[in-house]
Amino acid sequence: MKRMEERTALISAAADGLGAAVAARLALEGARVTVLDRSHEAISAAREQPGMAGIRFEQVDLTDAKATDTLLDRLVTETGGFDILVNNAGGSLHTPAPFLDASDSDWDRVMALNVTAAVRLTRAVLPAMMARGWGRIVNMGSKAGRYGSLFTGANYVAAKGAVQSMTLQLAQEFGPHGITVNAVCPGAILTPRVESLLAERMSTEERAAVIATIPMRRNGKASDVAAAVAYLASDEAGFVTGQLLDVNGGQGMAS
Ligand SMILES: NC(=O)c1ccc[n+]([C@@H]2O[C@H](COP(=O)([O-])OP(=O)(O)OC[C@H]3O[C@@H](n4cnc5c(N)ncnc54)[C@H](O)[C@@H]3O)[C@@H](O)[C@H]2O)c1
Repeated sequence: MKRMEERTALISAAADGLGAAVAARLALEGARVTVLDRSHEAISAAREQPGMAGIRFEQVDLTDAKATDTLLDRLVTETGGFDILVNNAGGSLHTPAPFLDASDSDWDRVMALNVTAAVRLTRAVLPAMMARGWGRIVNMGSKAGRYGSLFTGANYVAAKGAVQSMTLQLAQEFGPHGITVNAVCPGAILTPRVESLLAERMSTEERAAVIATIPMRRNGKASDVAAAVAYLASDEAGFVTGQLLDVNGGQGMAS
């Protein structure tokens, strides 16, 4: 499918993990993709992937406000603005999961990457989208933000809850400008990082017991998430906004 020819896309924290799969999928569908990522190593490795050919990479720590704003100013000027934004940056940053063990600094770090970075990127791309009367913003929520998680802890759950609620508000505010804002909420997706985390924290039996609670009887793949993001970023999803799309094999459901 070539649903995104002539579209420009900005994806945060996307040299590795789910973001990289999303970047490759949007590029495959014809978008001109710019990826932001903090890691030189991840960017160098991503550049070698055949599916990442033609993608532009910019190195930045998205929790550094000044560096991020300077880069965004330059990118918006150079490209004329982006049609699609995927706010993928986030994570629990492996801060302590028990609430009483998490410090103020743990909370600040998790909020900065999951919430404030998304605010900053969204603010930067909206003016050009409004001028064109077309835009797609897809935020990365989480099953944890929808249904809670003992695995990741309260700071991550609260941060994703904030991203998801912001999605609803921005959908209301910018719908009249032709801009849709949705969130994809994945369950556990077997990226190399999550795979090693699960292997470290859970026995084979415990993992099998969790899989038994998932109607589709498997963990997610990065391509499952990329497909959902690509749909929401396409023209076809023009009447879908303010939605939180669970991509969790049915592990969490809401009517
Ligand atoms: N993997 C999962 O199972 C899962 C499940 C639900 C939600 N999510 C969400 O999906 C998103 C991606 O998750 P992932 O597991 O692929 O992430 P990840 O931890 O594997 O990281 C992906 C990329 O983020 C970059 N990055 C980290 N901190 C950064 C910073 N400060 N500035 C710029 N880049 C930075 C890393 O260099 C890496 O290339 C996150 O928002 C996460 O919360 C993931």
